Amino acid sequence: MQRICVYPGSFDPVTNGHVDIISRAAMIFPEVVVAILINPAKAGKFTVEKRMELIRRACAHLPNVRVEHFDGLLVDYMHKTGASVVVRGLRAVSDFENEFQMAQVNHQMAPDVETLFMMTSPECAYLSSSVVREIARFGGDISAFVPACILEDVQAALKEKQD
Ligand code: PNS
Repeated sequence: MQRICVYPGSFDPVTNGHVDIISRAAMIFPEVVVAILINPAKAGKFTVEKRMELIRRACAHLPNVRVEHFDGLLVDYMHKTGASVVVRGLRAVSDFENEFQMAQVNHQMAPDVETLFMMTSPECAYLSSSVVREIARFGGDISAFVPACILEDVQAALKEKQD
């Protein structure tokens, strides 16, 4: 019986789509670890510390969720954490190929690690961190895309100075 699941990702920044998956995973698993990849090849718009802080705030109502970061291979992190279930969200068919490949590769490297896919809720199907970054960059309204408690921070960090 698995107690812990890991929800890995970039979360640059966390969106309502992520919180949808985290909340639903938190109803199934006693413990959910949201794990942010530190990717030296991709700096990202937010620092890892800021991403962690935003996720913690967005998930403050979920007592069985904790936020961590990792580098290197996800399967190594899974073994270190003692967790063997990876949760990933699927938005559209276009996600499938990449997710399928990742799950297969991870399974090849670590047969004890299982990947579970969750379909995102329809209202989040089009959402991604990059869409949020793009809209906010030009001063567009992202209030439907990120949790209200982090909206101001995300908007301020992403808006390009236009003077
Ligand atoms: O939010 P993202 O960017 O879609 O998340 C991708 C992530 C972090 C889950 C994936 O890139 C990952 O697990 N990277 C760690 C390196 C690794 O284990 N690679 C092997 C699988 S191809």
